[in-house]
Amino acid sequence: MNASPPEPTAVSPHDVRIFDTSLRDGEQSPGCSMTATQKLRFAHALAELGVDIVEAGFPASSSADMDATRAIARELRNTTVATLARCHAGDIEACAAALEQAQAPRIHVFVSTSPLHREHKLGLSREEVLERAVMGVQLARRHVDDVEFSAEDALRTERDFLAEVCAAAIAAGARTINIPDTVGYTTPGEIRELFEYLRANVRDAGRAVFSTHCHNDLGLAVANSLAAIEGGARQVECTINGIGERAGNCALEEVVMALNVRRAHFGVGTRIDTRRLVPTSRLLARITGMSVQRNKAIVGQNAFAHEAGIHQHGMLKHRGTYEIMRPEDVGWSRSQMVLGRHSGRAALQDRLAALGMAVDEAALNAVFARFKALAEKKREVFDADLEALVLGADANVARAYRLLRVQVGTGVGDGNLPTASVQLLDPDGTTLSEAAIGDGPVHALFEALGRATGIELQIDSYHVSSVTTGDDAQGQASLTARHDGVELTGSGTSTDILEASAHAWLDIANRLARTGHVRRPRQTASPTATAIA
Ligand code: KIV
Ligand code: ZN
Repeated sequence: MNASPPEPTAVSPHDVRIFDTSLRDGEQSPGCSMTATQKLRFAHALAELGVDIVEAGFPASSSADMDATRAIARELRNTTVATLARCHAGDIEACAAALEQAQAPRIHVFVSTSPLHREHKLGLSREEVLERAVMGVQLARRHVDDVEFSAEDALRTERDFLAEVCAAAIAAGARTINIPDTVGYTTPGEIRELFEYLRANVRDAGRAVFSTHCHNDLGLAVANSLAAIEGGARQVECTINGIGERAGNCALEEVVMALNVRRAHFGVGTRIDTRRLVPTSRLLARITGMSVQRNKAIVGQNAFAHEAGIHQHGMLKHRGTYEIMRPEDVGWSRSQMVLGRHSGRAALQDRLAALGMAVDEAALNAVFARFKALAEKKREVFDADLEALVLGADANVARAYRLLRVQVGTGVGDGNLPTASVQLLDPDGTTLSEAAIGDGPVHALFEALGRATGIELQIDSYHVSSVTTGDDAQGQASLTARHDGVELTGSGTSTDILEASAHAWLDIANRLARTGHVRRPRQTASPTATAIA
């Protein structure tokens, strides 16, 4: 056992470490669950983006998370892989097992410190919480050198007690001390002052890196994280697209670009390759089916769009009039047009590599076939089309149900009813055919899919947007639905928006099928008996 304080860590006062928790805090939030394969793929994307630490999961929470974190720990080189544990022996041992093959393993232990959590969640006194923190850090240090300690709900904890717990964790061997605003309650002024206080009052504060972890309940997560940096935090915990519990976590792309664009103000930088921000954001949106709002800073579709004439006029004279950063510096590509139906495999492979989606020979064959089919339908294939194609192909591999055929009638005209018929392959390869009528064509389509699969989805939101431009653009359908109290999101792309909608519906059905969370199948009746709800 090594309980002596570690050597002062090597982080330069000018650097802020980026600790990404999309795969842990993000993934545990509604609508963001990922399969082990998807988690692994995204972990590689985070490593390419240049994050310093990838928090891969919470291994004690499920065997699926154990497998996913183990695979990430095995494959990521040159990036620290962290796993989360409560200050319980079982959790910590699960972390150690998951990290066995990691090149740079970190165990992240946490315990709640606020009076509210001590009394109502843990039923522990201050002394007992302190003991638990020390025990957790010491036990984790038996397995790895790099241990992070988090004081959950730190921002609502008495300052003197928080300082005492932090000092005890450092003395027990923690190298990173994380101060989470678990419920998104703080303000920029308050958190800046708290970090200044802790750095001045915690014994041996200089032996650890102080870290900030802000939730977005009041929409202040990024502002609070930046204020914590001003107060001396040198690690920021954040997620791509700001995904996370409730209103989410601090958005990585926003905090990184704020530090980058206002470097003279903050005086610190990160190692992030900012040109990978947009591709990484898109990859996550595709994997989770949770799309990014158009006006989202940095990665939203409107982030660099100039519609008003007066703005366009200014932009033509000098782009600095209305742009504080260059779109290409965060990964938007100016030249949109890429390939057409005469393009060959080499050109496709080159372009995919340039977009950060390098594929091996076997995958290239599948993607090329899909590319050719798309190029037959579309005059021009854009970068975003390629992205949809590659990631869509990935999703297809994991698909349990596959769409074979869709036919939809709109019901326009006297006496006509919106109708839909679908043909699918189920997970066993059996062909399923069904038809239904509905309030409108999309409703009829979803009814037919529900009948064919026996899965009942309650649709909460549905929207269609175009992935690229032009009248032959691919449409992306995004759905949020509930099944047996579980909320899920799904998306699908196609040049036909009804087909895209069917893919989005099946994306959700497949997520349910993969997790085994399908409640009893719904009863199917004859198509003509379908209620027009
Ligand atoms: O929000 C929080 O307090 C957390 C901790 C487990 C770090 O996610
Ligand atoms: Zn959190």
